[in-house]
Amino acid sequence: MKEEKASRTAAGTAAYRAAESMRSEGERVCYDPYAKRFLDGVYSLLAKSRLLTKIAIWYTDRIVPGLTGHVVARTRYIDDCLKACIEDGIEQLVILGAGYDSRAYRFEELKGKVKVFEADHPSTQKVKIEKVKSILGSLPDHVVYVPIDFDKEKLDKRLFESGYDNNLKTLFIWEGVTPYLTAEAVDETLAFIAKNSGEGSSIILDYAFQSVVDGTCELEGAKEILEQIERRGEHIIFGIEEGTVEGFLSQRGFSQVENVTGDLLKSMYFKGANQNRKVQLFHGYVHATVKLRE
Ligand SMILES: C[S@@+](CC[C@H](N)C(=O)[O-])C[C@H]1O[C@@H](n2cnc3c(N)ncnc32)[C@H](O)[C@@H]1O
Repeated sequence: MKEEKASRTAAGTAAYRAAESMRSEGERVCYDPYAKRFLDGVYSLLAKSRLLTKIAIWYTDRIVPGLTGHVVARTRYIDDCLKACIEDGIEQLVILGAGYDSRAYRFEELKGKVKVFEADHPSTQKVKIEKVKSILGSLPDHVVYVPIDFDKEKLDKRLFESGYDNNLKTLFIWEGVTPYLTAEAVDETLAFIAKNSGEGSSIILDYAFQSVVDGTCELEGAKEILEQIERRGEHIIFGIEEGTVEGFLSQRGFSQVENVTGDLLKSMYFKGANQNRKVQLFHGYVHATVKLRE
């Protein structure tokens, strides 16, 4: 990420969610009514017109096949997991690399009950905070903003300083972030979670296949996504070998790994008018539970 600038990939994912949310209730894969309120510049202009939005999405999917399908399916999958975790009694929610994630504001069940920590790069978070103030009038009491550069700072220090309680049953959401981090930063974050969260805590994350990072993935859209992210001034540098995520997470203190593929997300969420839409097939989507510590 460029040090002084808000993440452009965060704006991009919010734009795809905004476009999806403009579709009718029966057609949309995910629904995020706040997404359009976070947009700036050309994105906010596009979000004002259904026709322009349709053209922009059609164009994006031509340049990077399956990208918008991947983003909206990922958001829907994580929303569904979050709902289940709320019913299961989570006491704390930590959103890592939050970008313009609006779950803290659109899940009413969290308000007044579950403290939400939004950890993100300071450049992106500064812009987000101003947007939240302008959308809601003030910052909500149940949300704590934690500015952090995962590549340079320790998550434990920043979270504990912000009032994080390591005895509580916590859900960590890491949506669309691991590809941009160093392997050391990914390991440190997972180690923190494995050692510092209450019984029944879990993490939802997505990752790119290692072959995408290496530039050897032949699946549709893989080479194009690398180029697109570079054009936005960011870089995909971290991946996990396809088919190895269960072992990867087990070695790092997690069990009960639900590993979902793009194919599965497509069959779960893309029906009827959506059945011909593409979803990129070189990402994994995972919900894993922290192993009990002896
Ligand atoms: C693709 S966006 C995803 C944002 C959000 N989770 C979503 O799904 O809409 C990537 C996010 O990772 C954050 N990020 C990237 N590198 C980071 C770093 N080194 N430290 C902290 N955050 C980082 C960016 O600020 C951005 O919010």
